[in-house]
Amino acid sequence: MNLAQRTRLLDAAERAQRNAHAPYSHYRVGAAVLTDGGKIYAGCNVENASYGLTICAERVAVGAALAAGARRVRAAAVIADGPDVPYPCGACRQVLAEFAADDAPLLVARRGHLRQAEEFTLGELLPHAFRLRAGKGAGNLKPET
Ligand code: THU
Repeated sequence: MNLAQRTRLLDAAERAQRNAHAPYSHYRVGAAVLTDGGKIYAGCNVENASYGLTICAERVAVGAALAAGARRVRAAAVIADGPDVPYPCGACRQVLAEFAADDAPLLVARRGHLRQAEEFTLGELLPHAFRLRAGKGAGNLKPET
């Protein structure tokens, strides 16, 4: 990921954050993913009156990328308000691991402080991610190329 892509990714996450539907937690999250085709797709958290149905911003971004035809995620960014940077939840780390490699960069930043974004790899945040591999107990499942 080059500097321009990094800036675009963080900006896209910040823009999506404005569209968050978070009337219950009031914690607004924006996320964006950079695909192997160089495109960027964004998502925001979408809460529900039935709280458990809430979808995190990262998973909405991944879904948008997949729906547009992308199949690989090269990098991701997450933005939220508050005193702490928004480390993605465990469920979103696992969902990202389905489409991104262990060395994919993950940027986390507080809104308005994009220059101070912290950077991790997915493998750092989710070591030994669960992935099904053909021939390793996965039956006939093969990862798409
Ligand atoms: N949330 C995300 O969007 N991403 C995460 O990785 C963690 C949590 C959202 C879900 C919910 O709408 C709000 O933050 C508070 O949990």
